[in-house]
Amino acid sequence: VSDVPDPFEGLEVAPGDRALYPELDDVYLGWAAIAPASTLVRRQVETFLADYARGGLGGFGRWLSQRSRLKERAAAFIGAEAADLAFCQSTTAGIIAVARSIAWQKGDRVIVFEGEFPANVTPWQRVAADFELELVTLPLAPFFRSHEEGVAALRAELAEGARLVAISAVQFQSGLRMPVEAIARACHGAGAELFVDAIQALGIVPVDVGRGSDAPIDYLATGGHKWLCGLEGAGFVYVAPERVAALEPRMAGWLSHEGALDFLLAGPGHLRYDRPIRQSADFLEPGAQSHVGLAALEAGLAPLAALGPAAIHAHVQAIHDDYEAAFTERGFRSLRTAGPAGRSGILSFECPGGVDPIALQRGLREHGVVVAIPDGLVRVAPHWPNERAEVERVASALDSLR
Ligand SMILES: Cc1ncc(COP(=O)(O)O)c(C=O)c1O
Repeated sequence: VSDVPDPFEGLEVAPGDRALYPELDDVYLGWAAIAPASTLVRRQVETFLADYARGGLGGFGRWLSQRSRLKERAAAFIGAEAADLAFCQSTTAGIIAVARSIAWQKGDRVIVFEGEFPANVTPWQRVAADFELELVTLPLAPFFRSHEEGVAALRAELAEGARLVAISAVQFQSGLRMPVEAIARACHGAGAELFVDAIQALGIVPVDVGRGSDAPIDYLATGGHKWLCGLEGAGFVYVAPERVAALEPRMAGWLSHEGALDFLLAGPGHLRYDRPIRQSADFLEPGAQSHVGLAALEAGLAPLAALGPAAIHAHVQAIHDDYEAAFTERGFRSLRTAGPAGRSGILSFECPGGVDPIALQRGLREHGVVVAIPDGLVRVAPHWPNERAEVERVASALDSLR
């Protein structure tokens, strides 16, 4: 039951309908970087600010229930329970929170991948240095050749012993979708835990943490400002319920205790410092959060929940088909996998000889087309409000830039 009414109940949206994005750039293909704000996000943030303008403390109280509702919705997105989630500021913050909370033993091996977004490498490097762990970096190339080959290479490394594998569900640069379930099975078969950076997957590629299955994801983190259509500053981290008790409370703060708010709400005599740290994922919410960001995140999720990730994925794949044809006809090399299992919301291309990606990005921008260029690839990342009709526009922009 919410003090802030649910403005998204019965929301109806259709793939390709830009009505919620009236001011958006002509052809916006930058969802894998930063989501534009929909009218739902704007309205929800304005409502939030109006509440806080009337009274900060009153606003805080009214929006508490909105956050419980959001946690349930976010959990449903990944097949988890609300109690398994903690809100966090960003993917990075979630990764750091987990990495620093694991009860490491000196010499534990942690496997990361060459080519990953650095957010999923730096925190593991730091804990490796601080806890004297061995960091092993594997190439992603075998996964590119086939999921089976990638998993086999990982299994071979796991046979040497590993405490944890950290991987993104979708690779930020190539868009390669990883076989997360098979990776989880390989990890668990070898006694290793699995951490998943899900920011390039959630909202566009179905992800399930496999709670209760033989191949569960142990930890997952995401920001909300890409495919989940929220704003920067709010995301969430998942901890499998069977892993929580073993975590060390190194990241605990004043809000991590049992009855943390009692001294503020329950009259005199409750100010104490010896309350136990909660044994639930939300001990990773140590202090005040970006509640305005969480308000925006709920508005971002609403259309995604209404459409469902499978339908969004299918819609985007049809758009990718057309972009792939348009770019390859013009000499670009597509990095899209032959089989559908490796495909995501990201479609990336290598530029033909003589084409400078920075100049190309700028030129496209002048034609109203927004793409990203991670490490020199041209990254095309449409989402549910995009449509196939836009491809023609991009193709003629490419032609006029020759
Ligand atoms: C795979 C991946 N992880 C993490 C991030 C960013 O992390 P954060 O949410 O901490 O900015 C990105 C992109 O910005 C990404 O592509």
